[in-house]
Amino acid sequence: MTDQGFSAEEIDTSRPHPARMYDYYLGGRDNYQVDREAAERVVAEIPEIHAAARMNRAFLERAVRFVVERGMRQIIDIGTGIPTSPNPHEIAREIAPDVRVAYIDNDPIVASHAGARLVGTPDTGFALADVRKPESILEHPTVRELIDFDRPVAVLLAAVLHFVTDEEAPARVVATLSEALPAGSHLVLSHVTTDCHPGGIPGVLEVYENATATLNPRSHAEILPFFEGFRVLEPGLVQVPLWRPDSSPPPAGALSGIGFYGGVAVKD
Ligand SMILES: C[S@@+](CC[C@H](N)C(=O)[O-])C[C@H]1O[C@@H](n2cnc3c(N)ncnc32)[C@H](O)[C@@H]1O
Repeated sequence: MTDQGFSAEEIDTSRPHPARMYDYYLGGRDNYQVDREAAERVVAEIPEIHAAARMNRAFLERAVRFVVERGMRQIIDIGTGIPTSPNPHEIAREIAPDVRVAYIDNDPIVASHAGARLVGTPDTGFALADVRKPESILEHPTVRELIDFDRPVAVLLAAVLHFVTDEEAPARVVATLSEALPAGSHLVLSHVTTDCHPGGIPGVLEVYENATATLNPRSHAEILPFFEGFRVLEPGLVQVPLWRPDSSPPPAGALSGIGFYGGVAVKD
């Protein structure tokens, strides 16, 4: 048993898990043969996937710094993924040591790794919950204990809404979360797109059909409405390396195949 109460028996190694495949793209070691084989099929179709995953992660790091610099002292990180370095509480606390972070994921493997790496420090917590049931996140005792909904909150939805199908209504998910947030709260969102893959990515979709969650890439025009109720801040919803880069932005040629959009918005 882990300190989160999950036993190794609950970890499914018979099917690829998106969290473990993403860990593999990032060069992590918390993945199994089944995940590596699936991920390699994705690499065969999108050779840039390792770089794209790293750029999504780098976007998340810049976005967390940005919202903390704008005053956020509470973060809910939904679809947090297998811990990596640095994790959001580590990034945030370089700027403000008092930031509280509630980590959410629906994958028991993430819960099993959350222990020392995410919640072994005060004022962080982990909740096993599903973004498709946002009420269960908002009502979760761990979230309620950490987050004061009378004060602004930064909600991170990085690389998770593309695991929500149209039928499962991702816009409603964001709207429900938004309703619980006071003015001044921020939304950090990134999402997979096929806008940079004009021929589509049928082989990749097939890989995720056999995983524990399907992949639902969306166009810029389909993702932008997820920010309904928020004001999208400059530079808008853009390919992740173009979002407030630390140094000069990469040349256009380096962006092909980087199929993640990212943006940050505020609730006025
Ligand atoms: C691609 S990883 C993103 C990790 C991190 N947010 C980042 O951007 O670097 C997606 C994560 O979302 C989680 N996830 C997928 N579907 C989910 C759901 N319905 N509810 C909560 N988490 C989910 C996966 O388990 C995985 O850990």
